[in-house]
Amino acid sequence: MNTFKKIHASEIERLLANYPPDRKQAAVMPLLHLAQQEAGYITEPVMQEIAEICEISATEVASIVGYYTMFHDQPGGKIRLMVCTDVACRLHGAREYLSALCNELGVAPGGTSSDGLVTIEEVKCIAACDHAPVFQSQIGDEVEYHENQNPGRTLDWLRLMTASMKTGQASMNLGQEADHE
Ligand code: FES
Repeated sequence: MNTFKKIHASEIERLLANYPPDRKQAAVMPLLHLAQQEAGYITEPVMQEIAEICEISATEVASIVGYYTMFHDQPGGKIRLMVCTDVACRLHGAREYLSALCNELGVAPGGTSSDGLVTIEEVKCIAACDHAPVFQSQIGDEVEYHENQNPGRTLDWLRLMTASMKTGQASMNLGQEADHE
């Protein structure tokens, strides 16, 4: 028996019981949520296990992980901040907004702040095009949408969130001179 199945045997059984035996593939999303709870991302071996459980290919599982922004195949910070840079948002300054955030955090898109708290990522359309710039935040399983952003507003939110986490770490190295609009 492999690791994911072994650790979560009863929960996997409970989830599969929600679907007919010939529709095991329908359990792939809840199983991915379950897998991601552990480390905040889903490894390839775990995707393979989920594929076996659901009787689909590992490629199909990987494509689901790649499609949905709430699933991750790489480790990241406690806060994932996903900025839409798709066409409509780009026309409203999303690239400049992303650059300003990355500069303040001292990371490139896809990177994690030095204290390990914040990962900033570029994503495709999150269906809030008329309120750009926008970002989606994810903290554990909690996903929120943030519209009509500017760097100062987003950095204020980040300071609030990191302070409330009470991690015991020093505050993030966020610029105190953010451009508040
Ligand atoms: S293009 Fe950014 S939310 Fe649609």
